Amino acid sequence: MTASVADRAEHAFSAHFGCAAQTVACANGRVNLIGDHVDYAGGVVLPMAIAQQTAVAIARNARGEDQFHSSAPVDIAWSRYARGVLTELRALGIAVPPVSIAVESDVPVGAGLSSSAALEVSVARAALLLIGTTLPPRDIAFLCQRAEHLHAGVPCGIMDQWCVAHTDPNALAHEAILLDCARTTDERVTLPSGLRIEVIDSGVRHALRDGGYAARRQDVSDAAAAMGLEVEHLAEASDAAIARLSTRLARRARHVVTEIRRVHAAVAALRCRDFEAFGRLLRESHASLRDDFDVSTPEVDVVVERALTRGALGARMTGGGFGGCVVAAWTVA
Ligand code: GLA
Repeated sequence: MTASVADRAEHAFSAHFGCAAQTVACANGRVNLIGDHVDYAGGVVLPMAIAQQTAVAIARNARGEDQFHSSAPVDIAWSRYARGVLTELRALGIAVPPVSIAVESDVPVGAGLSSSAALEVSVARAALLLIGTTLPPRDIAFLCQRAEHLHAGVPCGIMDQWCVAHTDPNALAHEAILLDCARTTDERVTLPSGLRIEVIDSGVRHALRDGGYAARRQDVSDAAAAMGLEVEHLAEASDAAIARLSTRLARRARHVVTEIRRVHAAVAALRCRDFEAFGRLLRESHASLRDDFDVSTPEVDVVVERALTRGALGARMTGGGFGGCVVAAWTVA
């Protein structure tokens, strides 16, 4: 039997630091079924947790400063995310002592499956567990988002941290989270039996710090501002107002407005078991992200096409884009 990621983290801790970890905490990755690049525009999104997890083993140390170790081939800058979470916990007045941390992860990095949020949330959970404190999942989500903004330099929305912080690693269900990012309220959407979700890795890796993500986010803000709207209200833009924007901003705004409609329609389709409609919405979402939002890549497009040729109901890129994974839906015979 292969060791769980939590066991591996504890083992890595003692091997590296020469003493036992005091506790270990996990957090899952997520796949977004539909609703990409709308969370920072006050849209609705439909992520669900995946089985792959990140684990953080932790103990107090007497060195007076935090220490980090990971044997996994994680992003070089991963410790910035971990440090950022500890800094933000302490900034809230939560007395986290100097700690040593070892990380192991089964969530692929740069694959659009929220490896960063899984790392952030597992660090937060481990530090809180260590000192016998808890925070509500919503507070953990916002704290981790702040850590990513301030310490990793990625101006992400709230979708990933929200989904990961609201998932119990010991009770994974066949359900998605419908999150309204403007109100930050959510509800669970049970996936109907007969529908199978597959995650396919294109093998192309992204780094959201590379600037494409921030540039898209800026375009969306510029489009809203040019129409005299707060970015959280971009979904209310009329077709006429969008048509008056520059070509690029019009394409960005059209993606956001149509994607938010597709999320609502996808939830309605799941609730009435209309698998054909759900699949069509995934396909339309991919076309919009590829053609209007320019965040797909030729390799990802090929993976989507192959899934459709193999008989998937629908398939689309998932997450921030510029590589990473495809999510596909299938009917189960
Ligand atoms: C990344 C960000 C999220 C979201 C997605 C795109 O995963 O962290 O906030 O914007 O990209 O939907």
